[in-house]
Amino acid sequence: MEMEGLQDSIHNRSLLAAVIGLGYVGLPMAVEMAQAGYRVHGIDIDTLKVARLRAGDSYVIGIEDQVVQSLTAKGLFTATTDYTAVAKADIVVICVPTPLTPGHQPDISYIAAAVEGITPHLKQGSLIILESTTYPGTTEEHVKQPIEAATGWTVGKQFHVCYSPERVDPGSVNYGVKNTPKIIGGATASCLAYGTAFYGSFLNEIVPVSSTTVAETAKLFENTFRSVNIALVNELTPACEQMGVNIWEVLDAAATKPFGYMPFYPGPGIGGHCIPIDPIYLSWAAERQGSELQFIKLADATNREMPERVVARAVELLMQSGIFVKDARIVLAGMAYKKDIDDLRESPALDVFRLLSAAGAEVVFTDPMVPVFRKDDGTIIQAQPASPELWAWADLVIITTDHSAFDYQEMADHAKRIFDTRNATQSVHGGNIVVLGHPAYAPIPTETDIEIEKMSTRNSPEQVGDSDGES
Ligand SMILES: NC(=O)c1ccc[n+]([C@@H]2O[C@H](COP(=O)([O-])OP(=O)(O)OC[C@H]3O[C@@H](n4cnc5c(N)ncnc54)[C@H](O)[C@@H]3O)[C@@H](O)[C@H]2O)c1
Repeated sequence: MEMEGLQDSIHNRSLLAAVIGLGYVGLPMAVEMAQAGYRVHGIDIDTLKVARLRAGDSYVIGIEDQVVQSLTAKGLFTATTDYTAVAKADIVVICVPTPLTPGHQPDISYIAAAVEGITPHLKQGSLIILESTTYPGTTEEHVKQPIEAATGWTVGKQFHVCYSPERVDPGSVNYGVKNTPKIIGGATASCLAYGTAFYGSFLNEIVPVSSTTVAETAKLFENTFRSVNIALVNELTPACEQMGVNIWEVLDAAATKPFGYMPFYPGPGIGGHCIPIDPIYLSWAAERQGSELQFIKLADATNREMPERVVARAVELLMQSGIFVKDARIVLAGMAYKKDIDDLRESPALDVFRLLSAAGAEVVFTDPMVPVFRKDDGTIIQAQPASPELWAWADLVIITTDHSAFDYQEMADHAKRIFDTRNATQSVHGGNIVVLGHPAYAPIPTETDIEIEKMSTRNSPEQVGDSDGES
């Protein structure tokens, strides 16, 4: 499409878009486009998701049912499993999963399948934008080249290709699709101009870069940066406990530096579809060119150790109460990988649950966002409602996700013992609480210490007392 014609089609919203993959990334993107006035066909192979959307029922947090219903009623959004909907599309956005293979390598089979699905239906002049997170070179090798090979077209002439990573922060109230700056790289200058004009028409800020590989690498680097820094703080946590230093207070103090610092916090491990996976895509791509990325490997190993460390500590805490883990009743508070979301993918709480169950404990979970989860053997585990009875039932409550909806005071009032891996109980009074990263061997407090402690909003005196008891 000529730039002049394109500007008109953008201005009068006559462009038609298809979004392939209606998950956590694809559905919000499709909704954003439709809300901007574009007609959007959402295509997913999951018949259940398509049926739910057709019934006006959203399954993604942050996308309200009424929004889906109203966009559908206006004819701006339709959901289908049928790839022939691509035939009318001027713009095709691919948002399919990019997990790891069982051998811990990039699995881009979903991208390959999506490209294979759209190719026979593409119309000349269309723009294909890959949004799935992936290693540098994917857009060139697995989008542009197969389409050129199958159609005989030339990129930048009969069709256009861009890569634009999704950077959505699930559960964030501050940043969504619209106000998160959008990086985009094109296979050619005209591809980039097309993609920039389209996204620029409904998103606040576009960040054009010189190539699809720069855009691919930028996304991987962002999440690698997080993984490495989380690993650093996870490694420091037991060292601080041993040194008698409260790491949460250290991190809060460090975070007051107004420049050159960004806080990361310890926890039971990393989860979601990004932090545990994206760095592996980057190291795999570097390795195939002969470069080894040591930081990524170390960070990955350190973060993946965390559930085991949490379990080891839980076993130790039970032993202090004279209970063997095989005889223990344990409640995991929170299964989602992160606060206030319902996403279980790669959640460290799943590992904690599995390890404690394997050790013979009776483990149950409660989570305001997650009603059920499926174990590796296919068994469905139902969430227990959070209640004073549930907390009192357990020999140990482990806070694995710091959801806002938990009543931490009620938990502290009724639980025999709490192991808080998220520092979620910081403003709770009383209770038998051990916080990950609180000193394991704190010195006996002097009167001055007690006065300082009273002034601190971070730690209740009871928590410090409890940490003393741990040593
Ligand atoms: N979830 C996040 O927070 C997040 C953030 C940024 C980037 N990403 C990246 O975005 C991509 C998508 O992630 P997601 O979280 O939306 O995954 P998801 O699993 O929630 O959604 C992917 C959807 O694609 C569908 N699908 C799979 N193969 C398909 C095919 N051939 N044709 C049509 N539909 C198909 C699935 O049924 C599913 O509904 C991944 O590359 C991920 O790394 C995710």
